[in-house]
Amino acid sequence: MNVLLIGSGGREHALAYKIKESPSLNKLYILPGNPGTQTLGENISAKADDKQFILSFCKEKNIDLVVIGPEKPLVEGLSDILIENNLKVFGPKMNAAEIEAHKSFAKWLMAKYNIPTAGYREFNSSSFDEAVEYLSSSNYPCVIKADGLAAGKGVIICNDFSEAKSAIEDLFVKKIFGTAGEKIVVEEFLQGEEASIFAITDGDDFICLPAAQDHKRIGNNDTGKNTGGMGAYSPAPLVTNVILEKVKNEIIKPTLAALRKEDRKFVGCLYCGLMIKNEVPKVVEFNCRFGDPETQAVLFLLEGDFLKLLYSAASGRIDKQSVRYNGGASVCVVAASSGYPDSYKTGYKISGLTEASNDAIVFHAGTKSEGDYVLTNGGRVLGVTSFVAENNLKLAKEKAYSALSKISFENIYYRTDISDKALK
Ligand code: AMP
Ligand code: GLY
Repeated sequence: MNVLLIGSGGREHALAYKIKESPSLNKLYILPGNPGTQTLGENISAKADDKQFILSFCKEKNIDLVVIGPEKPLVEGLSDILIENNLKVFGPKMNAAEIEAHKSFAKWLMAKYNIPTAGYREFNSSSFDEAVEYLSSSNYPCVIKADGLAAGKGVIICNDFSEAKSAIEDLFVKKIFGTAGEKIVVEEFLQGEEASIFAITDGDDFICLPAAQDHKRIGNNDTGKNTGGMGAYSPAPLVTNVILEKVKNEIIKPTLAALRKEDRKFVGCLYCGLMIKNEVPKVVEFNCRFGDPETQAVLFLLEGDFLKLLYSAASGRIDKQSVRYNGGASVCVVAASSGYPDSYKTGYKISGLTEASNDAIVFHAGTKSEGDYVLTNGGRVLGVTSFVAENNLKLAKEKAYSALSKISFENIYYRTDISDKALK
């Protein structure tokens, strides 16, 4: 098979790594890719939103499967145009990607089909006064979310009315999230512990990959600002078999059925962000794609033919036997540029990449090649990801941090507690 993978982050490096293992792969292209994916296939220098270029590239190179990593091209309809031209695509069409594109749509769908989630209300910027009045008599804490895509940053947890009022001023008046914040969703605050589950689906049937836990805050012990994710581990012991069955029967199955019923059949990876308390899982968010950095850890736990899984789902009949859990454990620690998620400097030489790869795979996220060097080129720079053959997260953590200790670049920053919650 000739495969085109769209994207350039750590998630896409991990997807490329796993696709490359497949015996059915002929040629792998990554568009645009990064210095890490370059070692696994051919990077194609083009923009992920250049639909016409991608379509003609697929025809010219006889692409058998397109795998779309990030949400933006999915939300903008890249799958639609490729499918209309008889290509096979892993990743939902625009009307199904709506589940991530607009939180108000996801909440409406969950309410209509009784899928467990936090209670909510939605408001437009034109109903500012109504929102203020509602918030003046709400329970606190409450959660205010920008309706549209905001790179994982559009969520504000408010501890009292004055924080809530300034949040809606930020969204509606100062427009800190631009048009993504023209509509907001106000949610009940859910207590509990979070986990991420990826359902790989052909739209009807699905399999769940091993559960993971992300670490969204910048600082140890979940302190400081929200980020795109500072590390992840898998499997997450929080998700017991009892909970997994509930997630499948009460969340994933009815959500896929609801999407079919609304004529928005979802093909791809449905990311379920969950809050779990007293064995009751509720949906915090759905995404229309693999999570980053959870993917880096989760994919190491699969044996079998991952490309076959993606291809079969994209072809309309998922092969549920194509992969299974290999019994191991994995920890991914993100090495970031100090200052992230606010401003930071880039362009620093990274050393130790070869030495680190004895103990882990170093997935590239924000890097660039310059001559013989690899330089920092983003907030989240690398995802140092370990694998151990037994389900021993303690060992997986030691390996990941041992590998990370061999890497250096100016202004390196990382959390030192990735996976500790599972070890408690
Ligand atoms: P999201 O971008 O929707 O994943 O939200 C970012 C983070 O905000 C989540 O990972 C949670 O930690 C937190 N969060 C979002 N919604 C809620 C909620 N209803 N209750 C509690 N925490 C939430
Ligand atoms: N790790 C969170 C996300 O991918 O949205």
